[in-house]
Amino acid sequence: MNGQTLDLAALERDLAARITAANDEAALEALRVEALGKQGSISALMKSLGTMSPEERKEAGPKLNGLKDRVTEAIVTKKATLAEAALDAQLKAEAVDVTLPPIRPRIGTIHPVSRVMEELALIFGEMGFSVEEGPDIENEWYNFSALNTPEKHPARDLQDTFYLSGRDDGGRKLLRTQTSPVQIRTMQKQKPPIRMICMGRTFRRDSDATHTPMFHQIEGLVIDKTSTMADLKGVLTAFLKAYFETDAIELRFRPHFFPFTEPSAEMDVRCDRSGGQTKIGEGEDWLELGGCGMVHPNVLRNCNIDPNEYQGYAWGFGIDRMAMLKYGMPDLRPFFDSDTRWLKHYGFSPYLLPGLAQGVGQ
Ligand code: DAH
Repeated sequence: MNGQTLDLAALERDLAARITAANDEAALEALRVEALGKQGSISALMKSLGTMSPEERKEAGPKLNGLKDRVTEAIVTKKATLAEAALDAQLKAEAVDVTLPPIRPRIGTIHPVSRVMEELALIFGEMGFSVEEGPDIENEWYNFSALNTPEKHPARDLQDTFYLSGRDDGGRKLLRTQTSPVQIRTMQKQKPPIRMICMGRTFRRDSDATHTPMFHQIEGLVIDKTSTMADLKGVLTAFLKAYFETDAIELRFRPHFFPFTEPSAEMDVRCDRSGGQTKIGEGEDWLELGGCGMVHPNVLRNCNIDPNEYQGYAWGFGIDRMAMLKYGMPDLRPFFDSDTRWLKHYGFSPYLLPGLAQGVGQ
């Protein structure tokens, strides 16, 4: 019996140590089966009670029962500890700190040209202009003839225009050199009064620091019975005030020639270049923004609009230039390089949309 007592003590120490060391519920269950399962070590000892003499059983019985109870208890306690630790780990792993700011998925930035287009649409939209679109591939009729551009006009020259190989009823196909053909498309599908802008890509054979073969223009057109150059000046002054976020806007018109307007003008805005950067609204300099004028009667006729009944004004200027001026970008070429460092620096957060209430530049 002495031997068995020693064995029991050793068995209990061994089991206790392994129960303490078990670090997951599966290991603990294996230990339980090993000690208390049908074939387990303690179960075998319990069975041996039946083969003992009554005296031996009297002495061994309580010891074995005690051992069984303590081991069972140790396993149950350890099981609870492990379950609690597992829950703690899970809660920790799944914890959400609701006080943290939202994670910004890295989805890039809005290109300054797209951003400026949003601002332009917003400002002119507020003034009651619709936003129209036209195709990048036009034909000679839409890009030139309908706009009263004579057959021999230098703008039609191969040097300026990218001609494509195909033809259609309107003559040779080409990449539009201006957004003005969208005036024609709008007048064809819409009866006056018309108040529209169009923004989009334009193409010319030209490339240096201030010219790229593809660039962006905004076109504006108003057709009704009474609009004049004075209205044009008023609308553009209001637009520039909203766009540059300053009331100190002064516009100057210089006589010019465009085939599709009569009279035609180039418009300049007062600016200051003394500090190396161009500041709109103050100073002694003038910056050319684009062209404008009263829509030529031939253009109206080409769209089946009677020039004795209707009149109106139009303008066009470069969007890239507008972006450079407002956001202080010195060179046009990086606009179209797709350099992510440039885009990160000059791009806009997709989460911050322009709004008139806070100023379109915010
Ligand atoms: N289409 C002209 C250009 O690309 C710009 C322009 C001038 C547009 C006068 C107009 C306008 O609508 O009236 O140079």
